[in-house]
Amino acid sequence: MSKKENLTSSEKRDSFTSKTGFILACIGSAVGLGNIWLFPYRVGQFGGAAFLIPYIIFIVLLGYTGLMGEFAFGRMSQTGPIGSFKMALETKDKKWGGFLGIIPVFGAFGIAVGYAVVVGWFIRFLVGFITGSAISSADSGAYFGQIAGPFGSTVWHLIALVAVTIVLTSGVSKGIEKMNKIMMPAFYVLFVVLVVKVLTLDGAVDGLKYMVFPEWSSLLSPKTWIYALGQAFFSLSLAGSGMIVYGSYLKRDVDIISSAKNTVIFDTLGAFLAGLIIIPAVFAFGLDPAAGPPLLFITIPSVFKLMPFGRLFGIIFFVSVLFASITSLMNLLEVPIEAVQSTFKLSRKLSVAIVVIAAFLIGLFVENGDVLGSWMDFVSIYIIPLGAFIAAVMFFWVIGIEKAKSEIECGSEKKLGKLFEISAKYVFVFLTIFVLIAGILLGGIG
Ligand code: PHE
Repeated sequence: MSKKENLTSSEKRDSFTSKTGFILACIGSAVGLGNIWLFPYRVGQFGGAAFLIPYIIFIVLLGYTGLMGEFAFGRMSQTGPIGSFKMALETKDKKWGGFLGIIPVFGAFGIAVGYAVVVGWFIRFLVGFITGSAISSADSGAYFGQIAGPFGSTVWHLIALVAVTIVLTSGVSKGIEKMNKIMMPAFYVLFVVLVVKVLTLDGAVDGLKYMVFPEWSSLLSPKTWIYALGQAFFSLSLAGSGMIVYGSYLKRDVDIISSAKNTVIFDTLGAFLAGLIIIPAVFAFGLDPAAGPPLLFITIPSVFKLMPFGRLFGIIFFVSVLFASITSLMNLLEVPIEAVQSTFKLSRKLSVAIVVIAAFLIGLFVENGDVLGSWMDFVSIYIIPLGAFIAAVMFFWVIGIEKAKSEIECGSEKKLGKLFEISAKYVFVFLTIFVLIAGILLGGIG
């Protein structure tokens, strides 16, 4: 066997080819359903523009601590959560770190299962707008009801997973990086087009007021702060999984501090643009903004039915939300794929096949809209913050804050101060536990 053939895929680790590619992939992970179907609703629920204050405080704080931590942890270990936690605990002569790593892998896989179903719905709606069926149906609720019934979207769900499989089997640089470089800029351009269109509709001003008028008194309610924290947390994909895995494909000369900063800025921008489209559009036609699936799949299609050139704008809308969600799905699936690939030393193709087939089979049972809601709640309330908590403890405490700090600084001209140490080691770790407990008590905050 030649030397080249000797290098199996597990030995040759794929990587992002540029800082921009890495940042776009991280933005692709961060901008997803959290930004589109939750953020606009939360803004309305908790005091309009006033909500942005705690949201921005938390997203900056989380970006400065947890997000940089996950990137650097992955880059240091050159592997996902299983290998990273194992490496961390081995420095203390403990061998069971790998088992703990299974928790965030299941968290990412669990969210991926539900996401794949929703991406299938987006494809279904995109096709529905292209053919006109989504616009000619008399009752948008009934139209969606059919799709979100038990086994109601199997074909679309399958199409979503086949599309992602093609990207993921091509690897990190040729698949994930390339697609994010196309889809994320396109997402922003299309969203800006939609904002311009929506804000010129009669009556959009009321919605705009709802989005930007601050109701300061809501800042006195602890719930505003708790939900802003949960929103920022989920939106940055802090789960001890996806961002560690993307970090593991990062070269040592890439500036993690500025990458985290860009991810925070563009994630917030994505959420804000979504709010500027959805809320004014819904108000312009006298509809009620809802949260979750009904907003995107019943209310918004009703808006496009009433809008001039609604079919065209419906197509633009569903292309952009499809891009936003499919790039998150890639990140979520990459976590179990990397885990299977490096734990069992399997080829990339086989690992992708195992994970995608499992996601599809389990996903068949969550195609029903109600089951999907409970499934996503369970994973995002219990497993996601737990994964983020364990990752933070492993990196900031077990590996140690000094080492963590120098790992983050590697590749950057900036140095982190004492404030970072306190924020990461105490504040961030406390917030992960807080998100877990508040989520359980309030039935989900992110
Ligand atoms: N941040 C994504 C969103 O807002 C969801 C996500 C969570 C993605 C955790 C990856 C990991 O929809």
